[in-house]
Amino acid sequence: KMKHIIMDVDTGHDDAVAIALAGGLNDEIIIDGFIATAGNQIREYTLENTLNLTEALEMEAPVFAGSIGPLLRDRVLAGNIHGANGFEGPVFEKRKKKECMGNGIRWAIDHVLSHPGEITFVSVGPWTDLAVCLKSDERFASSLKEIVLMGGAVDHPGNVTPSAEFNVFADPEAAEIVFDSGVPITFFPLDVTLKLLLTQEVLDKVKKLPESRYKNIFLASMGFYVPSLLKAHGEMPAMHDPCTIAYLYDPSIFKYSYRPISVETKGDKTYGKTIGGKEDKNSTTKMAVDVDTDKFWALFFKAVKNLV
Ligand code: BDR
Ligand code: CA
Repeated sequence: KMKHIIMDVDTGHDDAVAIALAGGLNDEIIIDGFIATAGNQIREYTLENTLNLTEALEMEAPVFAGSIGPLLRDRVLAGNIHGANGFEGPVFEKRKKKECMGNGIRWAIDHVLSHPGEITFVSVGPWTDLAVCLKSDERFASSLKEIVLMGGAVDHPGNVTPSAEFNVFADPEAAEIVFDSGVPITFFPLDVTLKLLLTQEVLDKVKKLPESRYKNIFLASMGFYVPSLLKAHGEMPAMHDPCTIAYLYDPSIFKYSYRPISVETKGDKTYGKTIGGKEDKNSTTKMAVDVDTDKFWALFFKAVKNLV
């Protein structure tokens, strides 16, 4: 029943909720290690944010450094959404936790190869690290249990360009490698994540909770993220990245469609678009299309209660 995961993150605000969710659901989810990649901000900052958050939440999983940028394209960041350090809002004490020495990608390959069929790779930033793993050793793909991703926009407009979502737009060539890998993939595109918005009701409920390790971090981070999203997109923030962890714990929270997915890597206006073929039960790619928001928030509060 225990699920071992590698969590590849570009720790900004919704990544942080995903990390906390995994930390609070440790009766079933075991994080074997984090890899921090460039994405919402430069890798130096996403690494710092991941170390700060995991130390504050007393999560002991090692944190490794991942890629400093995408495979081919120029680096794009999301400081306009997540702020100057990529996780504006919470203030952390000077940390003691240190990053693990050595390259996170090398570690992930060795870890997966030494536990064939057991490890799920969860990627909630640009998928560069995962693509490099897949391209570095042909045994990596067949040794993985599953890939779980946040990214893409299939039958929905993008959030960076009219057709592309941030994580895929930030490294379309990596996304193409991942979708072409043949590994069973479950992914959470904007089609579903934008149905899962934070609400004032949830914020009020968190405010009424007893003090806990996570409560103040969550409220401080949403104190920045809510106005940032209202300004940028005119709506409350979506819980994009936490969908991946909620799925691993309780897949019945979502509805799915099996479809082949390809990525536009040539188009000028459509660069980074995820293109969905028609439904095909034999496809190894499973796309989440709907979410039971009540079930999700119930799971969130269960996790928060465990982070006392
Ligand atoms: C994705 O982009 C990032 O800003 C979020 O953390 C999420 O992973 C949403 O498009
Ligand atoms: Ca992210």
